[in-house]
Amino acid sequence: MTTTTTTMDIKSIELASAGRDRIAWAEQAMPALAAIRRRFGDERPLDGVRLSACLHVTAETGALVRTLRDGGARVRLCASNPLSTQDDVAAALAEEDGICVFAVGGEDRPTYYRHLHQALEHGPQLGPTVIMDDGADLATLVHTERTALGSGIVGGTEETTTGVTRLRGMAADGVLRFPMIAVNDAATKHLFDNRYGTGQSTIDAFLRATNRLLAGACFVVCGYGWCGRGVAMRAAGMGARVVVTEVDPIRALEAVMDGYQVLPLSEAARIGDFFCTVAGNRDVIRREHFAVMKDGAMVANAGHFDVELELPALYEMAVARREVRPSLEELRLSDGRRLYLLAQGRLVNLGAAEGHPADVMDLSFANQALAAELVARPDHGLSAAVHVMPPALDQQVARLELQARGIELDVMTDAQQRYLGGWRVGT
Ligand code: NAI
Repeated sequence: MTTTTTTMDIKSIELASAGRDRIAWAEQAMPALAAIRRRFGDERPLDGVRLSACLHVTAETGALVRTLRDGGARVRLCASNPLSTQDDVAAALAEEDGICVFAVGGEDRPTYYRHLHQALEHGPQLGPTVIMDDGADLATLVHTERTALGSGIVGGTEETTTGVTRLRGMAADGVLRFPMIAVNDAATKHLFDNRYGTGQSTIDAFLRATNRLLAGACFVVCGYGWCGRGVAMRAAGMGARVVVTEVDPIRALEAVMDGYQVLPLSEAARIGDFFCTVAGNRDVIRREHFAVMKDGAMVANAGHFDVELELPALYEMAVARREVRPSLEELRLSDGRRLYLLAQGRLVNLGAAEGHPADVMDLSFANQALAAELVARPDHGLSAAVHVMPPALDQQVARLELQARGIELDVMTDAQQRYLGGWRVGT
C-alpha cells in the first residue's frame, strides 16, 4: 500500500515505529551531528528556511533532517535513488513536525521525478530558499523546468562527486544562479565517506546479494578514486585478488604501488569473478567486456548513476533473465554463459545493502548541516559558483568527531607556529 496525500508520498505510515528505532540506532553513532543538533536547537540558525533535500532516505539522513528541522528549517525530502529508500525511515520522518517526505522504495522513474518536483513545492508558487542535493537533480530542475521555483534560492549543498561534477559543468556554462557548497570535496567527507563508507558497504552488498566467497576470487575495481580505493582495500581485506582499471595515469600508478594489478578492462574482463564500477562515468563496462566475461561473473556498480554499466547492451545480449536472489538477476547469454547483475546496476551499496554505516555518515552530514547553516546566512557573501567547504568548518567537523571519540590533539608551541609560518630555519 502506498500512502499518498497532497502533502506526502510514502509507502505506509504503519512502518513508522520500526523507522524510529532505526533512526535512533543510527543517531547513537552520530555524535558530531548530535552536537550540531543541540546547538541548532538553541540558536535556530535555519529559522525561516524552506529546505528541499534530495538524499538517500536512510536512517542517517533521518538524523540529518531532524537536525535541520531543529535548526528551524521546514524540510521537504525526496529520494536521490529509487532503490535506496528505507520505507520505515520515510514513515518515521513523515510523522514528525516540519518534515514532508516523498519517497517510496523501488519507485519507478516517473514517480522518482514527480517526487523531485513535490520536494521543491513548498506552497503555491513557493520554492525552497536552500536546496540540499545528492547528485544535483534538484539543482538541475530549478535551472531547467522549474526556474520560477528557483528564483528564491540563496544557496545549496551537494553531497557527491558526480553532483559536484554536474554543478561545475553548470558553472562553466555560466548558468548556475546561486552558490553551491561542494560538501563532497571537504576532507572530512570524501576521505572517509567515499573511501571507508563505500568500501565497507559495497563489500557488504556483494556478500548480501551473492553470499559468495571473496577469498581467492578475482575482484575487478573500475576507477581508483576515493571510492575505488575503499572498495579495493576492503576486497583485498577479504582475501580477493584485486585488479584495478583506470584511465588516469597517476591513479593507476597509485594502485600499482598500493599492491594491485592494473590492467585494461579488455583483459580484466576475461579473468574477473566480481566487477564493481566506481568511476563516476558512463559505459565503463560495455558490450565487448560482457562478451568475454567468465560464466558466473558478478557485475555491480557503486557509482552514483546507473550508467556505468552498459545495461541496454547487456539486456540485449541476454536470451533469458530471472531474479535468482533478492537484488541479484541472472542473465543467460546465447552461448549458455550466465552473468549476474546486482541491484539493477544502481549503486549497489544502497540497493543491495544499507548504505554507509552511521559512524561515517556522521562526518558527511555534520558537513551538510554546517554548509546549510552557511548558505542560509544572509551575509554569506558567496558568489553564484561551486565553493569548497571553508577549511575552518572542515576542521570543526574533525574536531567534533575526535572529541566524541575522546581523542586529544597536541598543540603547537609558539616557536613551532613561528617556524611553520616563516622561512628562516632556526628562528
Ligand atoms: P573520483 O573522481 O575520486 O574517482 C573516479 C575515478 O574513476 C578517477 O580516478 C577516474 O580517473 C576513474 N575513471 C573515470 N572513467 C574511467 C573509466 N572509463 N575506466 C576506469 N576508470 C575511470 O570519484 P569518487 O569520489 O571515487 O566517486 C566515484 C563515483 O562514486 C561517483 O559517481 C560518486 O558520485 C559516487 N559515490 C558513490 C558512493 C556510494 O555510496 N556508492 C559514495 C560516494 C561517491
